[in-house]
Amino acid sequence: MTRRTEATNTLSTYGWVERGFHWAIALLIATALVLGRLAYDAPFDTDAALARKAWLFSFHKTVGVAIFFVALARILWALSQPRPRPLHGGAEAMLAALVHWLLYGSLVIVPLLGWAHHATAEGFAPIWWPFGQGLPGLGPDAVLSKVLGVLHTTFVKVLVGALVLHIVGTLKHVILDRDLTFARMWKGADPGPLSAARSHLLPLVGAVAVWLATLGVGLALVPSREAAATGTAEVAGVSNWTVEEGTLSITVTQLGTPVTGSFADWQAAIDFDPEPRADDTNGTVEVSVATGSLTLGSVTDQATGAEFLAAGEHPTATYVAELRPEGDAYVADGTLTLRGVEVPLTLPFTLDLTDGRAEMTATAGLDRRDFGMGETAYPDESSVGFGVTMDVALTAVRAE
Ligand code: HEM
Ligand code: HEM
Repeated sequence: MTRRTEATNTLSTYGWVERGFHWAIALLIATALVLGRLAYDAPFDTDAALARKAWLFSFHKTVGVAIFFVALARILWALSQPRPRPLHGGAEAMLAALVHWLLYGSLVIVPLLGWAHHATAEGFAPIWWPFGQGLPGLGPDAVLSKVLGVLHTTFVKVLVGALVLHIVGTLKHVILDRDLTFARMWKGADPGPLSAARSHLLPLVGAVAVWLATLGVGLALVPSREAAATGTAEVAGVSNWTVEEGTLSITVTQLGTPVTGSFADWQAAIDFDPEPRADDTNGTVEVSVATGSLTLGSVTDQATGAEFLAAGEHPTATYVAELRPEGDAYVADGTLTLRGVEVPLTLPFTLDLTDGRAEMTATAGLDRRDFGMGETAYPDESSVGFGVTMDVALTAVRAE
């Protein structure tokens, strides 16, 4: 058996650069798969467990991003090199070529989807590197992030499937054929002149078909938010204003980073006059919020889960308040009922009134401990802060 020590490929051998890339990537992929699985399955029911999960995810993402750049370099190198011909022809070589396309493609698609999922999510585990966390053109978008997350894990399955076939194929060459297929990738063995190269068009078409099917399956797997949300917001109070648009958002501090999210489903009955009435109030407000309609970065499930909003058990939160003037603005003075716990809440708000249209903004600070949130699992602020900022911004028109 002859061996080559050159950097470059020939029509029958792999040079050391390509072999180096191949085995380095094999090691990195194995690491990313194990870390991804461990991080995904890790519990987050206590402070320490959440910190460990975040650490595993940061490690996973950092290895994944490294794979992306090493893979780009490998692909550029491979394009500049001759492709060693297969030792056997026919259907077997076709299948091997299909699997090679799937592997090359996965090296780009899988980390990019993971990265895009990360770039559109808010908060949680950062990539350990100084070059920013985002990707050009992508900002926080909870729905898109969910889709990209499902696509990432679905394309991981194609990568794993291709890898299993790839390794089984290699074992066949080693155990049954006893040929030099493995030895030429492992140590540069040269099997000598080989038969003519096959066209790679059919395997490539096959790989594209597999990716399109995976995309279809991935998109079908995305759970619809409507189905996930429990309860709906409904208010019974008198209203002389109609809310045209508005956002009800909350900001929490997770692992030292602020994460903002909003409720998709809430309603307000506003009975308000800018001038004080006979009883010295400006009226009343009644707000109802479907707690399950919250989207909060990558921790939506946690936030709506039993430890925090407990949307399953308490699908709606309410706020009933009297409105009074205060200085040159107003204040809502009432009770917030959340998780079945009633807490008095005074909410100063500003109002911009023009031609029967009102723009209202309000900000209030809440403390999750007042509602018994995270009492046992998150007793301190190391992973989830105590303070929660609530922001309301709405435009309402006067109903005639
Ligand atoms: C235990 C793990 C692995 C083994 C035993 C293995 C084995 C091999 C062998 C023997 C070849 C040469 C095939 C030939 O000469 O026709 C090969 C090629 C290749 N391997 Fe792997 N491999 C492993 C992991 C991986 C991983 C993780 C990837 C990427 C995700 C990968 C991607 C490729 C690609 C794309 C080629 C084709 C190179 C070309 O363009 O000619 N392999 N592998
Ligand atoms: C080739 C590189 C990568 C591989 C092989 C890989 C593999 C995996 C695996 C096995 C999982 C667990 C999911 C499951 O078992 O179903 C996972 C999840 C995840 N990965 Fe990756 N990953 C890669 C790159 C990345 C990158 C670059 C990022 C981000 C920068 C990333 C972010 C994530 C996230 C956030 C999850 C959790 C998804 C969820 O909760 O829905 N991954 N990945």
